[in-house]
Amino acid sequence: MFKEKFDLSGKTALVTGSTRGIGKAIGDAFEEYGAKVIRHNTKVCDLSDPAAIEVFFDALERGGSLPDILVANASIQAKVPWTQFPMDEARKELQVNFLATLRMFQRCYPKMKRQGWGRLIVLGSVNERRPHPDMCVYAATKSAQENLVRGIARQVAAEGITVNNLSPGVFYTDRNKECLADPVYGPKVTAAIPMHRYAMPEDAAGAALLLASDAGSYITGATIMVDGGLCLPG
Ligand SMILES: NC(=O)c1ccc[n+]([C@@H]2O[C@H](COP(=O)([O-])OP(=O)(O)OC[C@H]3O[C@@H](n4cnc5c(N)ncnc54)[C@H](OP(=O)(O)O)[C@@H]3O)[C@@H](O)[C@H]2O)c1
Repeated sequence: MFKEKFDLSGKTALVTGSTRGIGKAIGDAFEEYGAKVIRHNTKVCDLSDPAAIEVFFDALERGGSLPDILVANASIQAKVPWTQFPMDEARKELQVNFLATLRMFQRCYPKMKRQGWGRLIVLGSVNERRPHPDMCVYAATKSAQENLVRGIARQVAAEGITVNNLSPGVFYTDRNKECLADPVYGPKVTAAIPMHRYAMPEDAAGAALLLASDAGSYITGATIMVDGGLCLPG
């Protein structure tokens, strides 16, 4: 039965930032398909603190809960023109959105290699293709992640590990709620999306499930845009 290829029974998935927004929708879908999902947010492990990442992964390792599937979903973004962007904020975005992902990949890889099966998934952004003028730093961290995915995917492809980038467009989550509710800005944003609607968090879950399961086992090094056509040329 083909649908069994989506089954995640027996798999442990760590989805960062999974108590709300897109991460929660992905975690819920993985649970529905049988995975044990480790829910994470700032209180569980603040990804801006490199030492906290080590403590968190040490505990997972000791508890035999290192993930078979990692979804690096948590991120931060500040809307500030690049000329005034505070360097401390830039360093924090680089840490949370990129360096934490690299370190989590490193911590997950040995187990995945040993067992000959693993899934490393990052959440990118349409900003990789169309950087918002006041979010150049955020866009750059997402592009760095995308490049990391491509670089690693080739090296681990023969080990049963896939590495992919899922890039959302405009989603209705806490970080966007206010903008989308604005009577002028909201309609302007949706008009620019070929589907003429923004997405809800669960709109990202199908692509994540595909990438996390055996149904997507031949997909690696890919960026999957989940953007209602926003990045299409024209
Ligand atoms: N929403 C969109 O339109 C959109 C568009 C393009 C790309 N994306 C990407 O999709 C992913 C999910 O976005 P979202 O809108 O669903 O996010 P969100 O609603 O803003 O939620 C962010 C999650 O990340 C966690 N987080 C933030 N900073 C953290 C830190 N320093 N340490 C640990 N966890 C931290 C938050 O934990 P707390 O609950 O503890 O704060 C929360 O669970 C992100 O990578 C984002 O860049 C989103």
